[in-house]
Amino acid sequence: MKIAVLGSGSGSNFQAIVEYFKNKSVEIECISNKKDAYILKRAEKLNIPAFFVEHDDLYEFLRDKTYNLFVLAGYMRILPQNVLSLGTFINIHPSILPNYKGVGAIKRAYHNNDKEIGITIHYVSDDLDSGEIIEQIKFNVDEGCTLYELEEKIHQLEHYHYPRIIEKLLIKGDIE
Ligand code: GRF
Repeated sequence: MKIAVLGSGSGSNFQAIVEYFKNKSVEIECISNKKDAYILKRAEKLNIPAFFVEHDDLYEFLRDKTYNLFVLAGYMRILPQNVLSLGTFINIHPSILPNYKGVGAIKRAYHNNDKEIGITIHYVSDDLDSGEIIEQIKFNVDEGCTLYELEEKIHQLEHYHYPRIIEKLLIKGDIE
């Protein structure tokens, strides 16, 4: 089994995925459309093959590869249909979709005083943070919780659940 993790930013989810699959027979490669993205540095440190690929060259790059699953983790562009036709793409978003699509989701939920927030893992479509939902994890926001604490909690949840859902998809071909 081989997966591609695509990201444009820090890559903390990518790292959680690499650590989770460390002694399991899943090969991981990293692709970023940002040359200076920290996700590429993490890949280097973790000894994971990594590629800088311009967004517009993604189709050409992926077309001859044999990934079982494409995992978006902070990839900040919408994928066109020709790229999506190459396989199964999933994404993680730090909100209870369809609420707060796009950037700044945690901040917007926090400033809106939402009592319940969470994360969504979903199949990718050619529309922003849309596509069939695979799993949502929700929790109640503690009284007096700071934005920083909320962000930490969201990221911890992401790092726990995303690798496990990837594994289920790879093993079962689907989620129960
Ligand atoms: C995560 O919060 C993810 O939900 C969103 O982008 C962020 C990526 O963070 N799509 P990182 O690059 O994995 O640290």
